[in-house]
Amino acid sequence: MKASSTPRELAFWHSLGQFPSTGRKRLGSLESVSGKTPESYIVRTFGCQMNEHDSERISGLLESDGMRRAESDDDADVVVLNTCCIRENADNKLYGTLGHLKTWKDAKDGRRIVVGGCLSQKDKDIVQTRAPWVDVVMGTHNVHRTTELLAQSIESGPITEILEEAVLDDHALFPSALPARRETTFNAWVTIQIGCDNTCAYCIVPAVRGKEISRPFTDIVDEVRQLASQGVTEVTLLGQNVNSYGRDLSLAARRDGENVAARPQFAELLRNVGAVEGIRRVRYTSPHPKDMRLDVLQAMAETPAVCEHLHYPLQAGSDRVLSLMHRGYTSERYLERLVEARRLIPDLAVTTDIIVGFPGETEDDFVRTLEVAAEADFDSTFTFIFSPREGTEAAKMTDHFVDTAVVADRFERLRAVVERSAWLKHQAREGRIEEIVVEGPSRRDPSVMSGRTRQNKLVHFTSPRALRPGTFATAEITRGAPHFLEGRLVEVLAEPTHKIRIPVASVNV
Ligand code: SAH
Ligand code: SF4
Ligand code: F3S
Repeated sequence: MKASSTPRELAFWHSLGQFPSTGRKRLGSLESVSGKTPESYIVRTFGCQMNEHDSERISGLLESDGMRRAESDDDADVVVLNTCCIRENADNKLYGTLGHLKTWKDAKDGRRIVVGGCLSQKDKDIVQTRAPWVDVVMGTHNVHRTTELLAQSIESGPITEILEEAVLDDHALFPSALPARRETTFNAWVTIQIGCDNTCAYCIVPAVRGKEISRPFTDIVDEVRQLASQGVTEVTLLGQNVNSYGRDLSLAARRDGENVAARPQFAELLRNVGAVEGIRRVRYTSPHPKDMRLDVLQAMAETPAVCEHLHYPLQAGSDRVLSLMHRGYTSERYLERLVEARRLIPDLAVTTDIIVGFPGETEDDFVRTLEVAAEADFDSTFTFIFSPREGTEAAKMTDHFVDTAVVADRFERLRAVVERSAWLKHQAREGRIEEIVVEGPSRRDPSVMSGRTRQNKLVHFTSPRALRPGTFATAEITRGAPHFLEGRLVEVLAEPTHKIRIPVASVNV
């Protein structure tokens, strides 16, 4: 096999459960050279699902090279930090953690530190300047090089490798095309798109994740089929702007002379993924309100496997602020589509993200956010305080930064509004019988089980016996709290069929 393959070739190798050679050095082959082959690793993940999924790939690569997962830092030879830089406190956290890890590294010969993810993509050489004891710094586009870089650092010392963009036509492009050690067994993340072509004024993601590239349609459906054959019943499709999925693919097809319309293909993707036998729940994150078309809502409504949950990031209620943010919609259009979504999809749960204190946000602007949030009546809201990220447009608007005390006050006022609607939504579910997929024993009380409804609501419920993760059951909801539901088991619908742990795919090297 050659080192780089076209997507079509990749689909072929993928269907065989094999992957093209990366030409990389195996860690095991170093034993005779240095006698210091690392045997165990631990990955600590910060940030969003993209990073969680990349971490599964990093773990998969290390395990396909013969390493085992350690339960704690003490037991690990290699600590991998997969970093995030979406807000400022992420930076502070990383350098703090690296300080602690210096002591960890000094305590035992042969210990290694790898830093990957969005913050290393942003900071590049700065990571090793500030923490020279780090062995490998890699970016978001070279996850596939993890073991090779680790091997190189063992042979010849610390290394920083940041690729400026994804390598086209290489299997490294999509994390889902690498072997994985998945964290759960009955549900799986599936990357459908990498990068982001939007220009939200506050956001660092396009700078650290690169331009938007859709993964070939058949590769995605093939992967979902493969997962279903291993007993996976739930998939979450991942991308920064999932509802523009496929626009680039159709444009490329047109350039190649095919007579296709240049438009997103997310609705078709939802229908095809939802039709895969064995897949009972399909989720996705995140769509962009400006690209939310009727065909996507119809596909959600008409595909039984697609869950009644929409994450629909508002960011702000004032049209003036939305325009400064370059979000591409007004609050009126946002709300109209929401009404349409709720009309088409009965019992739809809607969650959102809102930023407080965007530069120049006035009291009137903020009151508009409160009004729109109240009208939208969200099931749950992630509220963030604006954090200036160097290199973004909003970070330069220093003359308009909002006073910290004013922001803190607004943040609390918004929280009161969104918590109230969440609590009311949850109380309205009391007495209902809900379908639940079991996640395991509750963290607070191991005699209670936890699971999720189709609306993605966390339910803690009593059960006469422990149920395996992945079990489908029904529970009666007895109480709605602001952030979760409580209930009692009614009946078990289906036992899980997945293997205890999805095996790490073999890599041909
Ligand atoms: N692609 C996703 C969001 C990724 S980031 C989307 O468009 O929905 C997740 C959330 O972090 C964003 O929705 C936004 O609310 C928040 N966020 C991003 N940059 C931020 C910043 N500089 N300060 C505060 N919150 C931010
Ligand atoms: Fe950031 Fe906007 Fe892209 Fe989301 S859509 S990742 S908020 S630039
Ligand atoms: Fe953070 Fe990168 Fe995700 S910046 S939020 S880990 S895409």
